[in-house]
Amino acid sequence: MSEQPQVIRREDYTAPAFLIETVELVFDLDRDATIVASRLSLKANPERGSGAGDVVSLDGEDMKLLSLKVDGTALAAGDYEVTGEGLRFKAPSEQFVVEIETRISPVNNTRLEGLYVSQSAYCTQCEAEGFRRITYFMDRPDVMATYRVTINAPKDTCPVLLSNGNLVSSTDLPDGRHQAVWDDPFPKPCYLFALVAGDLACVEDSFKTMSGRDVALRIFVEHGNEDRCDYAMDSLKRAMKWDEDVYGLEYDLDLFNIVAVSDFNMGAMENKSLNVFNAKYILAKSDTATDTDYELIESIVAHEYFHNWSGNRVTCRDWFQLSLKEGLTVFRDQEFSSDERSRPVQRIKDVQRLRAGQFPEDGGPLAHPVRPDSYIEINNFYTATVYQKGAEVIRMMHTLLGAEGYRKGIDLYFERHDGQAVTCDDFARAMEDANGVNFDQFRLWYSQAGTPNLIWKGEYDADKQAYRLTIEQKTEPTPGQVIKSDLQMPVKIGLLARDGSELHAQTIDLTQAKQEFLFEDISEEPVVSFNRDFSAPVNVGTIPSHEDLAFLMGNDTDAFNRWEAGQKYASDLLIAAVRAYAKSGDADAALGNVNAFCNALRATLTNDDLDKAFRAQAMILPGEAMLAEQLQPADPEAIYQVRQALRRKVAIALQDEFEASYRHNASNDAYSPDATSAGQRALRAVALSYLAATGETVFLDLALEQYRTADNMTDRMAALTVLNDQDHPGRAEALADFESRFASDTVVIDKWFSLQAMSSRTDTLDQVKKLMEHSAFTMRNPNKVRALVGAFAMANQRNFHAADGSGYAFYADRLMELDNLNPQVAARLAAPLGKWRKFDEDRASKMKAELNRILAKENLSRDLYEIASKSVA
Ligand code: PHE
Ligand code: ZN
Repeated sequence: MSEQPQVIRREDYTAPAFLIETVELVFDLDRDATIVASRLSLKANPERGSGAGDVVSLDGEDMKLLSLKVDGTALAAGDYEVTGEGLRFKAPSEQFVVEIETRISPVNNTRLEGLYVSQSAYCTQCEAEGFRRITYFMDRPDVMATYRVTINAPKDTCPVLLSNGNLVSSTDLPDGRHQAVWDDPFPKPCYLFALVAGDLACVEDSFKTMSGRDVALRIFVEHGNEDRCDYAMDSLKRAMKWDEDVYGLEYDLDLFNIVAVSDFNMGAMENKSLNVFNAKYILAKSDTATDTDYELIESIVAHEYFHNWSGNRVTCRDWFQLSLKEGLTVFRDQEFSSDERSRPVQRIKDVQRLRAGQFPEDGGPLAHPVRPDSYIEINNFYTATVYQKGAEVIRMMHTLLGAEGYRKGIDLYFERHDGQAVTCDDFARAMEDANGVNFDQFRLWYSQAGTPNLIWKGEYDADKQAYRLTIEQKTEPTPGQVIKSDLQMPVKIGLLARDGSELHAQTIDLTQAKQEFLFEDISEEPVVSFNRDFSAPVNVGTIPSHEDLAFLMGNDTDAFNRWEAGQKYASDLLIAAVRAYAKSGDADAALGNVNAFCNALRATLTNDDLDKAFRAQAMILPGEAMLAEQLQPADPEAIYQVRQALRRKVAIALQDEFEASYRHNASNDAYSPDATSAGQRALRAVALSYLAATGETVFLDLALEQYRTADNMTDRMAALTVLNDQDHPGRAEALADFESRFASDTVVIDKWFSLQAMSSRTDTLDQVKKLMEHSAFTMRNPNKVRALVGAFAMANQRNFHAADGSGYAFYADRLMELDNLNPQVAARLAAPLGKWRKFDEDRASKMKAELNRILAKENLSRDLYEIASKSVA
């Protein structure tokens, strides 16, 4: 870093001095030299009292200014100033017109922000600050304007020309070019602008809204992928209907377009009426996509659609308010998936994701509040905290207010703020005002970082038939936030009798550091089911006895907590065993007798009253990374060995049941992605994976057989995942087969890269290095980098943390290489090196050394600088 990058602070927010009312853009598309002409009508912002003579400051990066006119007159050289960050001149009056011409180079845009080329198509990505790479503009979300966009391009290579809003005209131009004009009547911030042009295939459908309007739905994909759009289209229609039914929100234009592109920094983007997607979250057919892919497609298509209201009609005042749209929209997509699939299984998966991504973030060097106070690079704040914890905050409001009260708040929010750029506080106020409640304490969830820890204690008085529950809460300090306040949170509890019946159930409104609750008419000493449905996003330090956990696994009337009890039981066994292993080096002995645990798992596995998807989840032991979070210092090799040993013990104890489950859950029906069928496949996959864990060759043969005969990608990947960690000859056969089938399929081959990067085999790093030379791999495509390099660091704890530091050194090299191409993605991948505090001194110092090596890099981006410098501190 040559100069210290600037820190942007929330408290420094000021409204813009000028507003932009209308934007006219003309694009002359060319891969090397696209010309962008813009005509902006500006006006002084009455809120700021600005006017003639005040400085107009427009953001702009990485482009050539060709001309600049104000009110029709070119500005003289001395009358404006251009820097690497933008353009400044003095306002001639209170209202004036600015005309700007810039030249940009889409083909050289490796950052994939602004206008770039993906495969053969042009596309844009403007959130958060990409529009300033297209033209000089006030690139901030509180500047909202209507847009008219003209696209000129060659007709042969770009038959499809798209932007936001409605198509006004399509005309042929001389020299084989043509033109499309688009008009978006809804004022929007520039981060929601989009343009797509290319030779794309189109799949069409339509949706009738609740007021009877027909909306044309189109999905644009590369030619040849038309048969992979059905599920995305179906998800879109279901999402549109759900938003009408559950939120009363109707779509507001006559067309809705989705474009799938192969090169994309994130998952997808909610540009007004022109969503742009990472192709992996659109394309699916049974032999290319797994059940998990279908699930993700459904939720991301819904997520982006839901943004039309929660994000577009009402947007963020500034980027510190990002969770206003993201937390709310994640909560909405989670609820949609819960309604479409199994609610408890959805909750389990959402909590797993929160724990895997957000809790470590909140307990590490990058901890920040849901509404951050400062940033160096806003791209670094599209985090698990803003998204997932933000969704938990909305969920708690829903729990505290009830479905009806929540809906009243939502209605008031949209009624008050439609067409505005607002704050998280405005959202909370709508909830308060609609319900006559006070959220002063609850609001701390937006400003306080860190995961609260709850400890509970129960005391039964048999004479009084009363149960006293004492709950304490505490949040550890986080970087820059030492003093923590007590939070308000809803804690759902149940008191269970030994026969499994429910003696009492309640949602506790916890507000104090230490609080007591008394329950009367409790006829026997109850077993407590605590924080049901994960109603509060916290850690619970109290671990019930193994006997109580086994009881809860089999009897809790809250499905989430049945699963949770199994996870707690397994974690407790594994953590004790990892400690014992450190002394003995013998994983089996360290685990000791685990029969009671196996029996509890057996009862779940064979309980036909339970949903199969749930049973599959309940069989899966806590992951290595999750266990590392609970150990200080964590020894990745010990964790790996002990977890494998427990898997083997469970596999041997339940071999008969797993064999039966494998057989009974075979299906002769044609593949269907519905939740029930997916649950059946998931249970069968778990059974196969445990059977292989017995170590018996017959089951590896069985996996190979399943690979060879699979008629869908879910079963194929399940088999390949089992073989991937083995020495069995089937591994090479299946991997080679997969490669030859899918090498030219850019979405599918990523599964093959990831799988090999995640192998627990000790030759994995060498394999990853070799795979970087594979013809399908390129550092320029974010999906490829994430699949191979990212998966190695994020999903292969054993090999990434190899004691000799080879994993760290390899990874730091890749991050620096990537930083030169795509800083945003490089920074998003850098978090694993920041976990050094969790590990032994030797590993910690090696990890820190790599972070320091990154910090010493020449031309280090702001993005990677921010993550590396915060991580090393
Ligand atoms: N706003 C997008 C979403 O969550 C995410 C995104 C952010 C995409 C930045 C691209 C760039 O739906
Ligand atoms: Zn979003």
